[in-house]
Amino acid sequence: MLGTILALPAVALSITQNSTYTNPILPGWHSDPSCTFVAEEHNSFFCATSSFLTFPGMPIYTSKDLINWRLASHVFSRTSQVPQIGNTTVQNGGLWATTIRYHDGKFYAIVSYTPESPFVVTGFIFTTTNPYDDSAWSDPLVFPLIDIDPNLFWDDDGTAYIQFSGIHQQTIDLKTGALGPASIIWTGFTKFIPEGPRMYKKDGYYYLMIAEGGTALGHHEAIARSKNISGPYEGYSGNPILTNTNTTEYFQTVGHADLFQDASGNWWGSALATRSGPAWQNYPMGRETVLFPVTWKTGEWPVLQPVRGKMSGWPLPPQTKAIPGSGPFIEDPDIVDFHVGSSIPPHFLYWRFPPKDAFTVSPYGHPNTLQLRPSKSNLTSTAPLTTISELSFISRVQTDTLFSFSVDIASFEPKLLEEEVGVTAFLTQTQHLDLGIVLLPTNSYSSNGETKLAPHLRFRATYVPANTGNFDGTVQTVIKLLPENWQDGPIRLHIDAINETHYAFSTTLSKEPDAKELIGIAPATILSGGDGPFSGTLVGVYATSNGGAGTTPSYVSRWRYEGKGQDIGNDTFVPYSPFIESH
Ligand SMILES: *[C@@H]1O[C@H](CO)[C@@H](O)[C@H](O)[C@H]1NC(C)=O
Ligand SMILES: *[C@@H]1O[C@H](CO)[C@@H](O)[C@H](O)[C@H]1NC(C)=O
Ligand SMILES: *[C@@H]1O[C@H](CO)[C@@H](O)[C@H](O)[C@H]1NC(C)=O
Ligand SMILES: *[C@@H]1O[C@H](CO)[C@@H](O)[C@H](O)[C@H]1NC(C)=O
Ligand SMILES: *[C@@H]1O[C@H](CO)[C@@H](O)[C@H](O)[C@H]1NC(C)=O
Ligand SMILES: *[C@@H]1O[C@H](CO)[C@@H](O)[C@H](O)[C@H]1NC(C)=O
Repeated sequence: MLGTILALPAVALSITQNSTYTNPILPGWHSDPSCTFVAEEHNSFFCATSSFLTFPGMPIYTSKDLINWRLASHVFSRTSQVPQIGNTTVQNGGLWATTIRYHDGKFYAIVSYTPESPFVVTGFIFTTTNPYDDSAWSDPLVFPLIDIDPNLFWDDDGTAYIQFSGIHQQTIDLKTGALGPASIIWTGFTKFIPEGPRMYKKDGYYYLMIAEGGTALGHHEAIARSKNISGPYEGYSGNPILTNTNTTEYFQTVGHADLFQDASGNWWGSALATRSGPAWQNYPMGRETVLFPVTWKTGEWPVLQPVRGKMSGWPLPPQTKAIPGSGPFIEDPDIVDFHVGSSIPPHFLYWRFPPKDAFTVSPYGHPNTLQLRPSKSNLTSTAPLTTISELSFISRVQTDTLFSFSVDIASFEPKLLEEEVGVTAFLTQTQHLDLGIVLLPTNSYSSNGETKLAPHLRFRATYVPANTGNFDGTVQTVIKLLPENWQDGPIRLHIDAINETHYAFSTTLSKEPDAKELIGIAPATILSGGDGPFSGTLVGVYATSNGGAGTTPSYVSRWRYEGKGQDIGNDTFVPYSPFIESH
């Protein structure tokens, strides 16, 4: 592929300008990416990814060099924009597959909401002129959708169209939401699950690029074109145009692509991929965002470079971190101390909406802590869920194959049985690994004959049966009395991805950081697939009364997350993803 790119006559390229970078560009759960280039916004790139049940949702990332990506904003940051998220029980429901586009000075984010299966889909369109500010995103234009994955496209005459799975197309009035009649314009190359459509107009053709095969090992991209937007569309004889199906590549499930040009006119594409290898068993980070170079000569079909861990292609724009906004860069570690007057970091996520007043930074009397009010429901609650329950759970995305996460439990004085605060690696409410401090009965009795309660460390794994998920085995619950001299704390709780396949949960007194004691180990296959085949692992803290009447708050401090390495396939680890070398 490298030869193909360098042989291109249209653009003056020299070998010295060629660049290499590594995938994924948005590591960790960043599925269903849509990316676009906006010259008017200082030659910046913008990518949107799916958020499902997490809130704030619909993250937008921005970069000027395709390598350094910063969280620009969340389109969905006010519960009133999509109140349905608070009522969504199915673990894979919520907001799927945002498409981001820029048109006439405005950013548009279009998305579908899916509450449950069978699908009852709703479409939402949000707009802004300031993509760096959550609050600048509009309330949505809401419209009915026949199917998922809406795309937005303007023809030269200004008519706006949506395309969505099927592949359907209809016109849309962006002021009123009024839709024209829907028609199926292409059923795809394999005709199996045609979805994720993109429309581009180039050299007198409408190019319709779609994902097919379902978002698993058979996922791939196909393309068709027509001189009339309504069709008929002619499929390309070279389909599929992007696939890792039936290869031994570490990056699998490649699809849901989008194409865009940089300031030099070179084409690029984004897609989702899963770092699982063809075994597709161990992939706790779920579907991530990858970048690939594209050559697209006049009048011809685009050529998409296959997705690998290490990529070569077009010269990248000059590297810079001078990007507006206050969000973290994707590879930044978390060093969060909840200082007085600070806010909860913008990349921290809740599962559905946070309970009212559940999280307070540095409340009176507890400076430099995050106060958690427990939810009655624990992380499992009534899974498989039939009722909605609010969870006192706050998290971030696991963005590295290997990482180290820890928090201090600065103070926690539980009074009632089963009051608990802890750390979790969480995929869904049916798949999570928790290490908590919890009030449990002891073997001793008080003078009035009642069992004495005392804080314990408890490690437990919640997982789906082997016929639903990727884990076939058992993980023993570990319960240990908290040493008496630990009760003044602070106590540090750790989660480490010790290798690609296992998480270790350990603890120590914060003042003795090197005296870590291992409490439990669990396999990452628990956090792969199952009820969460479309999402990826979050790490964070939770507080719960486990169904009891307890309301004791807990105080968390010194939140740390640090990447320790990305596996990019073929036993190659890189310190951060993506890194860059110039030849
Ligand atoms: C959520 O559920 C509650 C209780 O059933 C209902 O009152 C409310 O209207 C629902 N909200 C939405 C946005 O569906
Ligand atoms: C891989 O190739 C085999 C044999 O050609 C085919 O039967 C199988 O369906 C392919 N796998 C996928 C996921 O397409
Ligand atoms: C495109 O196709 C539609 C539907 O067949 C037809 O009504 C329309 O006239 C065509 N447009 C052009 C520009 O040919
Ligand atoms: C990963 O760690 C687990 C737990 O220590 C161990 O059983 C497994 O063999 C390790 N895997 C590799 C590839 O080192
Ligand atoms: C969650 O809480 C319920 C009671 O509400 C309890 O039965 C269950 O064991 C708890 N599970 C976990 C994993 O916390
Ligand atoms: C990794 O190894 C496989 C087979 O050994 C090979 O097909 C693939 O191209 C390699 N990938 C990279 C990025 O080197």
